[in-house]
Amino acid sequence: MPPAVSIQNLSKAFTLGQTQQGFVNMTDSLRRAARASLSRLNRWLKPSAADRNQYWALKDVSFDVNPGEVVGVIGRNGAGKSTLLKVLSRVTVPTSGRIEVRGRMGSMLEVNAGFHPELTGRENVFLAGSILGMRRREILAKFDQIVEFSEIGQHLDTPVKRYSSGQYVRLAFAVTAYLEPEVLIVDEVLAVGDATFQRRCIDRMADLARQGRTILFVTHNMQLVPQLCQRAVYLEKGAVKAIGPAAEVTQAYMDRLLEDSRVGDLRDKPRTGDGRAQFVRAGVIDPAGRPLSVFTTGDDLIVHLEVEAKEPLPDLTMAVVLTSLHGARVISGWSREDGFSTALTPGPHVFECRFKNVCVRPGHTFLVNLWMATATGTLVDAVDHAIVMDAISDERYAHLSTSQDHGMVYFDHAWKRIS
Ligand SMILES: Nc1ncnc2c1ncn2[C@@H]1O[C@H](COP(=O)(O)OP(=O)(O)OP(=O)(O)O)[C@@H](O)[C@H]1O
Ligand SMILES: [Mg+2]
Repeated sequence: MPPAVSIQNLSKAFTLGQTQQGFVNMTDSLRRAARASLSRLNRWLKPSAADRNQYWALKDVSFDVNPGEVVGVIGRNGAGKSTLLKVLSRVTVPTSGRIEVRGRMGSMLEVNAGFHPELTGRENVFLAGSILGMRRREILAKFDQIVEFSEIGQHLDTPVKRYSSGQYVRLAFAVTAYLEPEVLIVDEVLAVGDATFQRRCIDRMADLARQGRTILFVTHNMQLVPQLCQRAVYLEKGAVKAIGPAAEVTQAYMDRLLEDSRVGDLRDKPRTGDGRAQFVRAGVIDPAGRPLSVFTTGDDLIVHLEVEAKEPLPDLTMAVVLTSLHGARVISGWSREDGFSTALTPGPHVFECRFKNVCVRPGHTFLVNLWMATATGTLVDAVDHAIVMDAISDERYAHLSTSQDHGMVYFDHAWKRIS
């Protein structure tokens, strides 16, 4: 049988500074803002430099997806995952290479791609169906399921531009997953929405997989990939780094994340930002300033940061963001929110960000991501996975379960019988 999706030598170059459609998250828009201002500067300095300002978001990517196969696309931020799905969904054109998709394709891309903002939820469902080539009768037959799944209820006749991001994503996923495309392309839906909704999306994708639909989806959830997919594609800097059985490829990716994060020196780390200042070292220390290799649940988490600035940055904001190994943001500290100035003068600086009594459950690994930007939103430096730490327990928290089902963070709480 011919493949459902066939990708041959696909490459995509962006000219830096071009406007993009859609948004992913704040880091991404900041990243983009930083690039745009860099490229403006370049053009101003040397008009022809713009041509050389090409950025290869995809480099010679080739693989096939067989009919009925579920394939996960994984990789770090900026690896090219969303770009790949956009090219496949024909939202953007490739610079070179070929793609072929056999069968009716439904895609759910980044948050604001897809719906017409002025139309209501109901109108958008019909619009999406007709784009997929369905008759009104066919759409009507699925309509109730879509409404039920999306839990949009009374908001069905509200223009979608008034929806919360959660409502928007719920409806978008319901439309994509119930209008029954033969090939389903899904980018990161699971990052938005609550845990129950995520579970329902996963269950729905599993159903579709059982019905023999072909699914290609992007996720940062590394537990999900081996559960749902036969194979995974690991992208690194736009190229295929590994492709194969889901469990193996996921493991290779997580090993790589851990390996990259165990060292305190950040100078050679993958990063984004204009580089006017950089995080050069980072680590978790104890109150006496000694570096720690494991973190004890319930202790203060003290993140030690060494930064070097090339020029004065009087209005700089820094953030320290803790995520799970699977990419979920758990805790963060933002200097601006805290009313703390992280202004820099040229040269080295040392900072500390202390989180009080952090109860990451024992047995969990967490990552520390670092970020700095100016007040106008120009990204100066961002290093994902700068630190990796395992949490262990002493006698205070030895009774806590390490099961993933209990969540990653523990809070003191009390039970009470009311009747
Ligand atoms: N229109 C564009 N113009 C310029 N650069 C772009 C454009 N779209 C994407 N990029 C860049 O291409 C690279 C790949 O982006 P992409 O969104 O595909 O990454 P991703 O793997 O989906 O990352 P994430 O996990 O953060 O969603 C990034 O460096 C991104 O900033
Ligand atoms: Mg993406």
